[in-house]
Amino acid sequence: MTNSDDTIRAETQTDATARVEGSSYISEMNQTVPVAAPGEFQPVAIGPLSVWPPVVLAPMAGITNSPFRRLCRRFGAGLYVSEMVTARLLAQHHPASTKISEFATDEQPRSLQLYGVDPEHVGQAVQVLVSENRVDHIDMNFGCPVRKVTGNGGGAAIPAKPVLLRSIVRAAVQNAGKIPVTIKFRAGIDDDLLTYLTAGRIAEEEGCKAVALHARTAAQLYHGSANWDFITRLKQEIRTIPVLGNGDIWEARDALRMMRATGCDGVVVGRGCLGRPWLFRDLADVFSGREQQEPPSLGKIADLMLEHARMLVQWYDNELYAMKTFRKHCTWYVKGFTKASHLIPQLIQILCLEDLENILQTVNRDEPFPLRNLRTPRGKRRKKQKVALPQGFLDDPNDPRPPGKKAEVSTSGG
Ligand SMILES: Cc1cc2nc3c(=O)[nH]c(=O)nc-3n(C[C@H](O)[C@H](O)[C@H](O)COP(=O)(O)O)c2cc1C
Repeated sequence: MTNSDDTIRAETQTDATARVEGSSYISEMNQTVPVAAPGEFQPVAIGPLSVWPPVVLAPMAGITNSPFRRLCRRFGAGLYVSEMVTARLLAQHHPASTKISEFATDEQPRSLQLYGVDPEHVGQAVQVLVSENRVDHIDMNFGCPVRKVTGNGGGAAIPAKPVLLRSIVRAAVQNAGKIPVTIKFRAGIDDDLLTYLTAGRIAEEEGCKAVALHARTAAQLYHGSANWDFITRLKQEIRTIPVLGNGDIWEARDALRMMRATGCDGVVVGRGCLGRPWLFRDLADVFSGREQQEPPSLGKIADLMLEHARMLVQWYDNELYAMKTFRKHCTWYVKGFTKASHLIPQLIQILCLEDLENILQTVNRDEPFPLRNLRTPRGKRRKKQKVALPQGFLDDPNDPRPPGKKAEVSTSGG
């Protein structure tokens, strides 16, 4: 089996011409953005963890499982956060929480995202994680914009209830001991109800070790551009812990631009790495002052797809299930290549590794990466929404009562 990551590394590292000035693998908007100057950026300290480059793989439900994290990590470095796990289920050792909260034996640091709406369940879940020595970092999700969740007072609605938010964060931090806790949230419910500054202050006061801001409101979902001004503002407000910026890092130079423009301490990368795990190599390069390397051709991407799929099969020990979860990745890997519209209908029906191998044998291995596709959104593309909230939800922001089970969700967004 070809180790496609090694292949890509080996070729690019020995081929000095691959590191071109003014590369066409950089979109026009980033052509003049210089790579990092020596000492320009520092590792980001998340409690005892020193993260370099200052790059975090965003938690993505159904995606950032152990095989995907491993694949991304082999290209680069930084912190790679798990899929979101529901606190109540984890505290109960519910089977649904078991696989998604597992780490490979060699994974370091082990970073897990927890979602909870009730301080009691969150406290119990953190106790389980800590007493069973299962994690090195806990991130908490307060950014889920899904109607069913906010409509029941959970997810991105929680920061609109600062007393409740504080009690959940406190339960996590107090039970975490030395394990650093961070929280991730959106800018607010909508433009009229921004909650990120309050959420940031609460995190700081309660002992979180960093905050991450997805610079969109819940009303925005994934629509339009993230508003990096929110990140600038949060960074001005939060003085004692790192601020991580999130939203629209499609290319490595976007991360440099975001950090330079906002002063944030690190970046969180979500959809940009879907079908492009080598984005983490690009990020490692530009943060270390090196030009980024040429992207893989379709043949190398096909090798990478097979490798990713095989890792999933091994991880789940269930070929059919693994291949079904891999279908969405297929569409991202081949997006923008000339035969994509012919390949995708086949790829989204694969049932086994052999199906995948057969389809990938037909591709033109020499086709170069479609540069026009560099900044095409992937993963989520829903229109804006009017955020659903429970009736009377905003009447008493100081209401400390947790919203209950209905505000939980097993697959989410942030
Ligand atoms: C498929 C998908 C699943 C996601 N699941 C989660 C999640 O479980 N927890 C979370 O905090 N954010 C989740 N997010 C949001 C991302 O972590 C990130 O905040 C968002 O995609 C914006 O970053 P980006 O512009 O780099 O993609 C998800 C995003 C996507 C696309």
